[in-house]
Amino acid sequence: NWTMEEFIGKEIARIRDICGPKGRVIGAVSGGVDSTVAAKLMHEAIGDRFHAIMVDNGVLRMNEAEQVHEMLKKNLGVNLTIVDASELFLSRLEGVEDPERKRKIIGNTFINVFEEQATLIESAAENEEKQGDGSEDSKKGHVEWLLQGTLYPDVIESISFKGPSATIKTHHNVGGLLKDMKLKLIEPLRELFKDEVRALGRLLSIPATLVQRHPFPGPGLAIRILGAVTREQVKILQQADSIYIEEIRKAGLYNDISQAFAVLLPVKAVGVMGDQRTYEQVIALRAVQSEDFMTADWYVFPPEILKRISSRITNEVAGINRVTYDISSKPPATVEWL
Ligand code: XMP
Repeated sequence: NWTMEEFIGKEIARIRDICGPKGRVIGAVSGGVDSTVAAKLMHEAIGDRFHAIMVDNGVLRMNEAEQVHEMLKKNLGVNLTIVDASELFLSRLEGVEDPERKRKIIGNTFINVFEEQATLIESAAENEEKQGDGSEDSKKGHVEWLLQGTLYPDVIESISFKGPSATIKTHHNVGGLLKDMKLKLIEPLRELFKDEVRALGRLLSIPATLVQRHPFPGPGLAIRILGAVTREQVKILQQADSIYIEEIRKAGLYNDISQAFAVLLPVKAVGVMGDQRTYEQVIALRAVQSEDFMTADWYVFPPEILKRISSRITNEVAGINRVTYDISSKPPATVEWL
């Protein structure tokens, strides 16, 4: 039995010990709870020798890369690089409608981009070392470790279960880094449950809004755009989703809901604007309450909140003339539509 304060002290000491005085660690961050808490912990332990990498895959939510920059780099002081790879991701996703193909493309492209960054960081460290005088002091230290924000339930799952949910974690599958770059895994959260990670985050001064954030899938908005993914479709969904979440927060309901998001349907419906007939796309709103996301109940909103959200989306988002609310529970529906 340990307190969370003891855990922090013990884990920081362990990280310092295994990394040595010069070793560097790289890790992907998404702006989510786990990667942010893991990054902050690494930063406390080894400062700028921890390199956080955020990959902008072109299917993030509105202003998400900027927000991660603000939080991790400006507020928490983490050594962060944001890579805008949206062009590459969107070109590989062109014309793809099948959800599992979207997941695979995004997972593989993520690995390509992340590995390239890891190589860049390592060669920068080598160059600095070459410019030094060869003394022990001027040696810069190599990238030796890969940070993963693995939690205890993931540890259990990967031991006992190799079913379909293995594909959910494709974005963690950075095998080349482990094999070719010979990186070793460092997993500071591997003994913790989600609520313990949140408690740890609070102790590490990570703001409550981040610690309480709803989960967001690795493949991002690509699995919430039901047809092919284009920049235009991403923009429409980003706008609708941002209005939806903003109104949920304003109504004080965010923490009452386990996950809420908008989905862009690949159909067109008839509407009317002034004396003009319109023919535009449909947004579906999803909100669920759930303990573990294995089962979930659809969330019962006060009607006036839905009314305000619908009116704002149809008025403010060009290309949308209709909003529906998803009243399906899991099972038989899933939380995501794809
Ligand atoms: P489903 O749709 O399976 O969602 O009921 C359960 C939870 O898992 C998330 N989810 C994903 N997370 N990559 C992720 O990182 C994925 O491909 C993925 N698919 C679903 C979903 O958002 C929900 O929290």
